[in-house]
Amino acid sequence: MEIIEKIEDMRNKSRALREANETIGFVPTMGYLHEGHLSLIRMAKNECSKVVMSIFVNPIQFGPGEDFERYPRDFERDCRISEKEGVDYIFHPSSQEMYGEDYLTFVEVEKLSGIMCGAARPGHFKGVCTVVLKLFNIVNPHVAYFGEKDYQQLVIIKKMVKDLNLPLLVKSGPTVREKDGLAMSSRNKYLSREERKNATVIYTCLNLVQELIYKGERDLSKIKKEVLDRLKENESVSKIDYFDFRDPESLDEIEMIGKHGRILAATAVWIGSTRLIDNKIIEF
Ligand code: PAJ
Repeated sequence: MEIIEKIEDMRNKSRALREANETIGFVPTMGYLHEGHLSLIRMAKNECSKVVMSIFVNPIQFGPGEDFERYPRDFERDCRISEKEGVDYIFHPSSQEMYGEDYLTFVEVEKLSGIMCGAARPGHFKGVCTVVLKLFNIVNPHVAYFGEKDYQQLVIIKKMVKDLNLPLLVKSGPTVREKDGLAMSSRNKYLSREERKNATVIYTCLNLVQELIYKGERDLSKIKKEVLDRLKENESVSKIDYFDFRDPESLDEIEMIGKHGRILAATAVWIGSTRLIDNKIIEF
């Protein structure tokens, strides 16, 4: 496995791989790897002849007062794990390498970036799209892999790729969970023992939505009220940014279940001082 820190070196490598007829699978991450990341690496390994993973904690997708400085990092551990998984190249640039001193250009997917997590974290998706587009331009992959855990991010990136005619395929993998249902996340590390135990309420609520729909409830405002009550009675839940029902493709809000065959239930909840997100697609 090779570690590449410079943009020019990554570009040269990518060009050489393409000239040698390799297919490049790309998994962008912010590191501190867990099974969720590894599931995407394994998909890429299965489908492509070379796998590039980036590890870059992207400063511009964190707002003021967010956790950029304390975001968990362990590059050596990430390298050991990636090597075992058969990653061929880790692209690990510095912030200086990515943004220099006079950075001015940003990409924004309008509308979709202002709802859900975007409403709670202004500028977040602009930072994500900008770094992902830069990474696509540098790595030039055939296929890029994203997790359904960050469902809104996935929809936004697919839209950016479509709107800007980017010459690559975006694929997604299902959310990997702990045994008790908590979605894996690098941020789970912030949770105290008590909070970790209570954090399962998020997945419990997503399952409750499914149960109520399957029982025949069609009024999503009633379901929402029940779920919010359940969240609020949990002693570790300090704030609920949103709990939304949306169309899985357009992310348009759904109030009443009509002919939709699938709906996305998505939420962002603060457990103590840690913001966690999760979602579930309910098919019926
Ligand atoms: P990060 O949070 O490190 O996640 C990297 C990729 O792993 C994303 O596609 C994310 O959806 C996926 N992922 C995270 N947890 C997962 C889980 N439990 N199951 C399945 N997939 C999971 O998302 C980012 O980094 C950044 O925003 C990035 C796209 C790298 C841009 O900076």
